Amino acid sequence: MALGKTLVVGASGLVGKALMRVLKSAHTDAVGTYARFPGAGLEALDITSSTQVRACVERHRPATIFLTAALTHVDYCEDHPDEAFAINVDGPRAVAEAARALDAQVVFYSTEYVFDGKAGPYDEEDPPSPLSVYGQSKLAAERAICDIVENALILRTTVLFGWDSNSTNFAMQVYHKVRSQERMTIPMDQFGNPTLAEYLAEMSLALAQLGVRGIVNVVGKDLMARSEFARALVKLYGGSPDLVVPVPTESLKQKAPRPLRGGLRTEKLERIVGSKAMALDDALKRLGKQRDGAGSMI
Ligand SMILES: NC(=O)c1ccc[n+]([C@@H]2O[C@H](COP(=O)([O-])OP(=O)(O)OC[C@H]3O[C@@H](n4cnc5c(N)ncnc54)[C@H](OP(=O)(O)O)[C@@H]3O)[C@@H](O)[C@H]2O)c1
Repeated sequence: MALGKTLVVGASGLVGKALMRVLKSAHTDAVGTYARFPGAGLEALDITSSTQVRACVERHRPATIFLTAALTHVDYCEDHPDEAFAINVDGPRAVAEAARALDAQVVFYSTEYVFDGKAGPYDEEDPPSPLSVYGQSKLAAERAICDIVENALILRTTVLFGWDSNSTNFAMQVYHKVRSQERMTIPMDQFGNPTLAEYLAEMSLALAQLGVRGIVNVVGKDLMARSEFARALVKLYGGSPDLVVPVPTESLKQKAPRPLRGGLRTEKLERIVGSKAMALDDALKRLGKQRDGAGSMI
């Protein structure tokens, strides 16, 4: 199915940028928005303003809206619940209402943080039980969107990474530590599936083109502790494994509680697209190529 015109809300973020690249390579007519960080060709949009949202959607009349925009800083959300719910719930609700008026398809990005991390990895049918304000806000958004539009596609993902010099995603944080030869304390007991942002963008397009609805987990194949992922990144960047100091989450005194035994199962995704989820080795090869293509070498 051809997607028709697409709107990427949050095109200045890690996933939004990857989506814009993937949509462009697929010759899809795509418009993107930013909130605070303008990018070439992007339009300003604050999703907490339903007036702005309606005007933007009516102006572009997209057939599909990829809604990546969110307040993603988990610890900040814990201290600022009103702001978190305004951006992460009221914003998506406004987008879904504007989409309903045009019968546009909505693709929304959610998280494994809707689970408590007692019994991961989770499939799409497992009952959510978020521990943090961020997780609660994303679950509330999932439900609000599905109440408003029938054709919503909810993609749950986790531990996103990609080469982006403006991003503080985990792969970039580790890169900067390796460059400055700084040791890093990384949780040994937070399990999740590292997911290349570009892979999420490719699967988003594939699932949207297939007209899939409901919840689908889109993550990398390999489930591992964050410290193990850090070591894999350090190896890619040519640093010493000793730079990674594995520690229990408890010792980090993070503001928001984390789902420790997290992770998401990929069987549903694999069944729909007919191929295995991306292995970490393949994702890291692509990350290395992205880095070399951007001209950054250690
Ligand atoms: N990162 C992860 O590991 C992870 C894991 C699971 C799920 N997710 C979900 O995946 C989605 C994309 O994450 P990401 O890592 O790409 O996030 P990100 O890099 O932090 O980007 C967030 C995007 O949201 C935009 N935004 C923030 N506030 C806004 C507002 N009031 N109005 C309009 N746009 C606003 C930002 O615009 P500006 O930058 O221009 O301000 C940016 O484009 C999010 O929904 C997130 O919850 C992420």
